Amino acid sequence: MPVDVQRLVADVLSSKKYASMDEALVRRVCADLSTRYDKHSDALRATKTALHRMHQAFLRGDGAQRAHHLIRERGSHNLSTDRAFARQLLALHASTAERLPTIESACAFLGAFIGFTDRVVDIGSGFAPFALPFYPHLPAAYLACEISAPIVSLLNAYFAALDKPAFTAIPLDAAVTTPPPADVALLLKLLPLLEQQRKGRARDLLKTLPAQRIIVSFPVTTLSGRSKGMEAFYSTFLESNLPDYLTITARQRIGSELFYALSAQ
Ligand SMILES: C[S@@+](CC[C@H](N)C(=O)[O-])C[C@H]1O[C@@H](n2cnc3c(N)ncnc32)[C@H](O)[C@@H]1O
Repeated sequence: MPVDVQRLVADVLSSKKYASMDEALVRRVCADLSTRYDKHSDALRATKTALHRMHQAFLRGDGAQRAHHLIRERGSHNLSTDRAFARQLLALHASTAERLPTIESACAFLGAFIGFTDRVVDIGSGFAPFALPFYPHLPAAYLACEISAPIVSLLNAYFAALDKPAFTAIPLDAAVTTPPPADVALLLKLLPLLEQQRKGRARDLLKTLPAQRIIVSFPVTTLSGRSKGMEAFYSTFLESNLPDYLTITARQRIGSELFYALSAQ
């Protein structure tokens, strides 16, 4: 008997850990996974694991609440240039914590492709916008898109403290929705996750992303620090999934991350 998607959604949302999750997202994951299992209990376990992997795995415990608290306490004076404070926030999300030892070089690389007048869209942003004090200059507009509702609300509190009305965060499931147009799109350590969520999504998103420049990055060591041939694997992955209209303008390994800058012809 096929797994009942309605019942799956209800069971996921009735568990405390997933109760505050966006219902549309839960429904999307349940619908995707219900077709892969015969038993309700197996589909339920797989759905919870997938939702956990998507974002809760990155938040270090109560990282979002701690970051909220730090931002409230800090106030807005000189926030956009306070690198020591930025480091405290970046340490609270596993992905940016991993980037911290090379944050200056990473932001110098990104900053070289982002002009003063550019609109940036940061897809699956996590806590990456907290690195803005490390950029050589700020762009004109910054749109952070995240699947995690607590991260969206946290980033909006940060942008309000920065007093940048053109900087904002929105909830967006990049596995099914294409983000709004921008001059520069950031896809930092996101494509492997999207590919896990929906096979073929990485290529589809690259094909349809409305941006002149795209910066993609991949983790080339695991969260526990091992490497396991990840650089070669992700180089091949990107280069073989690159749509014709995009060319590689730069490629650089920085710390535990491999960056590509892509440009639309
Ligand atoms: C590996 S982290 C990368 C975060 C950030 N880009 C960085 O490089 O530091 C992936 C982030 O993508 C978010 N995410 C996962 N699946 C997503 C999806 N389908 N749509 C949008 N965001 C997603 C997670 O919540 C998490 O914060």
